[in-house]
Amino acid sequence: MTSPTVPQTPPVPPLPPQPLVERLSDGAQRVIQVAVGSNQKPPRTLKTLLNGTLLGHPLHPVITDVPVGGWLIAAIFDILWLISHTTFAWAARGAVLLVLIGIIGALVAIVTGLTDWSDTYGSERTTGFYHGSLNIAATIIYIISFVLRLQQAAGDSVLAAIIGFIGLAVVVVGAYLGGALVFTQGTGVNHTAWEPASDDYEAVMPVEQVEENKLYRVTAAGVPVVLLRHGLQFCALSATCPHAGGPLDEGELQAGDVVQCPWHGSRFRMCDGYVLTGPATAKAPHYDVRVHNDMVEVKRVMSEQ
Ligand code: FES
Repeated sequence: MTSPTVPQTPPVPPLPPQPLVERLSDGAQRVIQVAVGSNQKPPRTLKTLLNGTLLGHPLHPVITDVPVGGWLIAAIFDILWLISHTTFAWAARGAVLLVLIGIIGALVAIVTGLTDWSDTYGSERTTGFYHGSLNIAATIIYIISFVLRLQQAAGDSVLAAIIGFIGLAVVVVGAYLGGALVFTQGTGVNHTAWEPASDDYEAVMPVEQVEENKLYRVTAAGVPVVLLRHGLQFCALSATCPHAGGPLDEGELQAGDVVQCPWHGSRFRMCDGYVLTGPATAKAPHYDVRVHNDMVEVKRVMSEQ
């Protein structure tokens, strides 16, 4: 008689070594998350401010226009001054001011960009790492250019102008990667922007099955919706977090009618989709809810979308 075969577990292959960029990103994200208070309890005001939640729009892309615009015009001024030091003497002085404005804007853009980046994973995080590194490098290059300009009474330094051109080239490559992050990888876009809606109420579940203070995932017009009964009131939102698509129905219900996304902690009022805490900047699409023929029915509110 042969003894029964003992199932063999396959040997676990060793984890592949983490590339340097991944290890650097892990460490940098941990530091940034502590610095901006990602792991603190709500309201996480500093992080919410830096994400742009109060603006209703990501803050980082608004700020990046300042260094890109300032440094681009500074480069034009430098070219004029290089063509004729006497005719365009004013351009050298103007370039000093523009380079300084660009540096100040870049420092704010770095802080807001790092805050947004601290919530990314995978390929988005890697692209963001290179995007941020290039822009930090460009800022350092411009600081060197600025110091050289200051050492000349009228800001007229050929070397400073050439260093500025190098900085601008680095910024252009960094900006290209920033565009790829948004337009190719969808980082920072509103993940509910294309959700369809029907013109009429749609029955989603029998009213007797809806318990109080519990989140339910239902579907209306093919869209996942999170439903809540709070006392006599029913509230419903798109179940997809606008920030990066997290499942709100798996989130935490707080203070009665506030839901916190399980992925990065954005908090939304269940009854109107208002964002209380970032990183989300767009409201969650919300739904009118009524009870009809013992069924809970929902209809997307389109007026504010
Ligand atoms: S997916 Fe990021 S907060 Fe919801």
